[in-house]
Formats: sequence, structure tokens, C-alpha cells
Amino acid sequence: MVNSVALPRTILPATIPSNSTPTIASLPTRLQQLIINLRATSQMTPELAQAYVKSAHIQVADLLPWAEFNHPVSHSYGRQLVYAEPNFEIMVMSWLPGDFSAIHDHGSAQWGAVQSFGAAEHGVYRFTQGQLQTSAIHPFKAGTVLAVNHDLIHQMGNPSDTPMLSLHIYGAYEYQGEITGDARIFDLFEQTIQYTDGGVFFGLPEEDIMRRTTGLTGDRPTTLRHHQQMLDRADKILSQTPTPIWAARADALKQTIATIH
Ligand SMILES: [Fe+2]
Repeated sequence: MVNSVALPRTILPATIPSNSTPTIASLPTRLQQLIINLRATSQMTPELAQAYVKSAHIQVADLLPWAEFNHPVSHSYGRQLVYAEPNFEIMVMSWLPGDFSAIHDHGSAQWGAVQSFGAAEHGVYRFTQGQLQTSAIHPFKAGTVLAVNHDLIHQMGNPSDTPMLSLHIYGAYEYQGEITGDARIFDLFEQTIQYTDGGVFFGLPEEDIMRRTTGLTGDRPTTLRHHQQMLDRADKILSQTPTPIWAARADALKQTIATIH
């Protein structure tokens, strides 16, 4: 519970510290406050990140400069970096109606938090003995902040009819290169786990997949939901920028879904 987390005392200085970059000073004040709190805490945890994001009271207007609602249809959602330091990064994601991420984890990230600014949906998964199963699917309402721990396998998306934004903080205890690098995408259609440093999109192009492992399986409801969402993405792509790969993928998904039902 957020209320049970004792926040270390951190006072927002009247002026930005002299060692700050102009980039920080150019950010909305509430984002500056969040950054100062994150910087000031040496022992970050997912719960502290969650509490800091909640206490920052960030507004949609603060994030609009990073909105990307015109993202390519092949991208499952819009994704913009707001700010990065060696041990944490802040991103804004943009979700059109029907946009869903692939099922994923967060690579090297050891703590983080996500705030919804719309009527989003959040799915949590467990991965045991090569099989992916759904633990929970629940509404992720505007204003809600979720803690992200290193072991979290999840998915979020926008099932509503209104575009929406979300704010994402990911951190590591010490610098280790890309914080969310080497993230895993659980592709139940290809039955592989794909590793990427970029967006966790359905049907990533080969150049964005660093490596993959084979043998992934999923239980029936998890597989059915995954395939239907990938097919939804395929239909969007085929209606705008059709490619042979996505056409073949859509046909195969329809056949597989028919056999699962
Ligand atoms: Fe995520």
C-alpha cells in the first residue's frame, strides 16, 4: 500500500541544483520534483518509486510534450523518452484505442513504477517451467500507480475508445548500460521468448530482436488472448501498410484461434 511507505524527507529546492542539466530545468516542475526525489534516494525500491510518482501529482498536461499518438501502426503504442540518468529513466507511452503492448518484462530494471492517465487495462503473468499463465487482468484506472519489480511479467493496453497516456519510471541500483535493455517479449504465436532493447511490440521486426529462445508455451486463455490481440494489431497494419509477413501472420493466427476455440 502506498500509504504504508515512509517517504524519506526530500525538500524541493527553490532553484534547480547547479549540477543539473538544462534538460532538467526545462521539464515541468512536477517532473523535476520526481527526479529530485529519485536522485536523493540511494536505496530505491519498487514501493518507493510508486510512492514518489503518486506524491508528484503529475498531470496529463505535464506529459503532453511527449505524446506520440501518431506512432507507426507497426508499433503497438507510442514510446518517448522524457529523461534519463545512469540509473533511472522516465518515459511516456501513448495508447490509441485498442493499443496493447506485447507480454513482457523489463530487462535489467530492478525497480520502477507506472501511472495510468486513462482507462487502461493491466495483465500480470507467471512463467513457470516454460509455460506462461495469466495471474490477473484488471482495470488500470486513471491516477493509479503500479509498482514494477524486476520479476514482473505484464502487459498493458487501452481497451477504451479514448487515447490515453501513461508515465513509466524504470531504474537500476547502479549503472549497467540500458536500464530496460534485454527485455523479454513472450511471443506465444512464434512460441519464443524474444530479447530486445526497444519497444515491446507485437511482431517485432528481426532487426529489433537481439536473440530468442524457443519452446515457449501458454495455457489456453493466455494463448487465446495473446493471439486475438496480435491479430488485432495485424488487422490494423494490413489496413494501412500491408506486408507479406503480416498477411501470413494474420492467416496463421486465424487458423490457430479457430483450433483453440
Ligand atoms: Fe512494462
